[in-house]
Amino acid sequence: MAAFSISEIKKRIADFPKKNLIHLPTPLQKLENLSQELGGPEIYIKRDDMTGLAFGGNKSRKLEFIIQDVLNKKADAIVTWASLQSNWCLQTAAAARKFDIRPILILFKTYDLPEEYDGNLLLDYILDADVIIKEAEKGKAVRIEDIYEIVKAVENEVKEWGHTPYVAPIGGSMVGGSMEKPLGAISYVNAFVELLEQAAKQGLEINYVLHATGSGGTKGGLAVGAKALKEDTKVLGISVSENKESYGKEVLTIARDTVKALSLDLSMAKEDIIILDEYIKEGYGILNKEVSKALRFVAIKEGIFLDPVYTGKAMAALIDLVQKGYFKKRDKVVFFHTGGTPALFPNKQHLVNLLKK
Ligand SMILES: Cc1ncc(COP(=O)(O)O)c(C=O)c1O
Repeated sequence: MAAFSISEIKKRIADFPKKNLIHLPTPLQKLENLSQELGGPEIYIKRDDMTGLAFGGNKSRKLEFIIQDVLNKKADAIVTWASLQSNWCLQTAAAARKFDIRPILILFKTYDLPEEYDGNLLLDYILDADVIIKEAEKGKAVRIEDIYEIVKAVENEVKEWGHTPYVAPIGGSMVGGSMEKPLGAISYVNAFVELLEQAAKQGLEINYVLHATGSGGTKGGLAVGAKALKEDTKVLGISVSENKESYGKEVLTIARDTVKALSLDLSMAKEDIIILDEYIKEGYGILNKEVSKALRFVAIKEGIFLDPVYTGKAMAALIDLVQKGYFKKRDKVVFFHTGGTPALFPNKQHLVNLLKK
């Protein structure tokens, strides 16, 4: 039996007001060709790449809640950070602009991509976002401990410009900066509710949800949703950057903060946070043969483009798990497409080289 009913969870989420920025529900579709070709479980896709804000993606769900928080706090600028080709930063800039909030993005060069107006960097430019580019260790995601001073300095500078800045933590995931509640994760509890309602309409019993995980808000929210509403659905997070021990602890913190924020009598344990880290391979944002093959496979079989940093890695993992016999043939697996496709373009050279071989 579920610990909570859908209507109870919806009521708790409704305590957190949000701005309507996106088209919901996002489609839940069966990947007929892919399922048949792989000969394993039935594979479905949740199209969070089709949210309709900028180029879509998981971050726009989070931003519905975060932008409302920015407005509640009467801030008129938003300072955030991530990697050079960050989807989070693009989505933040697009959402902020709609509400006349000035976006200030600190972008770290965590991989060897040129600082050209391409992919998300081009879109940031079209949005006239303030962009500050900084050097960083390659192949690793940005960690707040390493860049705290930089963010603080930018926040102070923005104040000197006469603005009231809202500091949004990377990915809108971990509570911090001006965000006092795990709003990103709450939006993904909501996404789990949405998924269950769609599945019920389609007569679908979901056994697994699989998604890419980076800053942890998506993972934390989905894990809480599953624990509260359907504990027999396993949520598999494919890490793109961090090893599962240290990262698992961070996600558990996000999940526990989420349970607390929603006043749920639910105890989230280490075992509730399933993270697979063996697909990180060469490091964060570094393309490999399996990812390039997964991108081409899904494009050819389903006419759907994945991104090279997150969903491509998650799909390479899904394919590998099917081939290893991880799932039963009658299982139903939902793959979350969390967006990020603009990053295909700045990665064009790597991608073409890998696909040519
Ligand atoms: C396309 C895409 N998918 C998945 C993720 C991971 O989501 P989260 O940061 O909530 O773990 C990100 C994060 O940037 C992303 O851009």
